[in-house]
Amino acid sequence: MSPHAIIIDTDPGQDDAVAIMLALASPELNVLAVTAVAGNVPLHRTETNARMVVEASGRAEVPVYAGAVRPMLRELVTAEYVHGPTGIDGANLPEPTIELAEGHAVQAIIRHVQESPDPVTICPLGPLTNVALALLLDPSIAENIDQIVLMGGGYFEGGNVTPAAEFNIYVDPHAAHVVFTSGIDIVMLPLDVTHKALVTNTETKRFADIGNRCGAAVAGMIGFYARYDIEKLGSKGAPIHDPNVIAYLLKPELYAGRHCHVEIATDEGPSLGATLVDWWSVTGNEPNALVLHEVDSVGFFELLIDGISRLP
Ligand code: BDR
Ligand code: CA
Repeated sequence: MSPHAIIIDTDPGQDDAVAIMLALASPELNVLAVTAVAGNVPLHRTETNARMVVEASGRAEVPVYAGAVRPMLRELVTAEYVHGPTGIDGANLPEPTIELAEGHAVQAIIRHVQESPDPVTICPLGPLTNVALALLLDPSIAENIDQIVLMGGGYFEGGNVTPAAEFNIYVDPHAAHVVFTSGIDIVMLPLDVTHKALVTNTETKRFADIGNRCGAAVAGMIGFYARYDIEKLGSKGAPIHDPNVIAYLLKPELYAGRHCHVEIATDEGPSLGATLVDWWSVTGNEPNALVLHEVDSVGFFELLIDGISRLP
């Protein structure tokens, strides 16, 4: 079977960085491009971080594009209070030597999808600005998009940036609305899943013990990044959200959920950015997403450690 063609749209972010590494370590996936968007930190940092991670993974041939500097309608909200000023504090990686690929990420998404002989899966790990803009600029690309597998939202679990909203959806709810009303198959990995696979000191040590450059970077990033959620949640571990998207592509049997209708709250006010998941089918609206709810966390960490151990 030929590898599964994917585009990773991302705002690294320590957890984004780990997701990119897992994808680049996996022969089952053909990463056509990494496209950066403003989110956890401003764009000049997310695109630099994406290049650092691609280079550290020994995959300098994978093109990295810079995309939207801000959400479609709202001012950018960032999360240095979680990720540190660089976005990947703790990684201790050198600044990249590889250059940005030419052209805007939105046009790159369109072109890579159009030119791919196989249907492409889009993997958004940050605010959905680039993906929404690509769909608005050329809606015909939907024909060659297999599915959109994204990290975002929360329903029973609530939000992580407001009581109602998860960060990626909150930052650009209008872009999320465009994506969720696009008619493309969506798989949503919300907080309800990511909060069930908490990384503790045990896993952090296993990453460090791999003994390679990427394992050290992952251990360092988690060491920095986990402190915020451990304190907030009062738990022994922290969610490492974004690699769940790649883990789902590699081993969907680790996850379970149901097909639901999802609506994005775009009105200003306390519910802005909420993902209204019709879990009990009370609206009668057609499902527009596979909303995941369960994860085999042991299997998830095995997959992750195995992947990182194949990298330099
Ligand atoms: C999401 O927001 C970011 O902080 C993380 O990188 C992840 O994509 C979790 O809410
Ligand atoms: Ca992210």
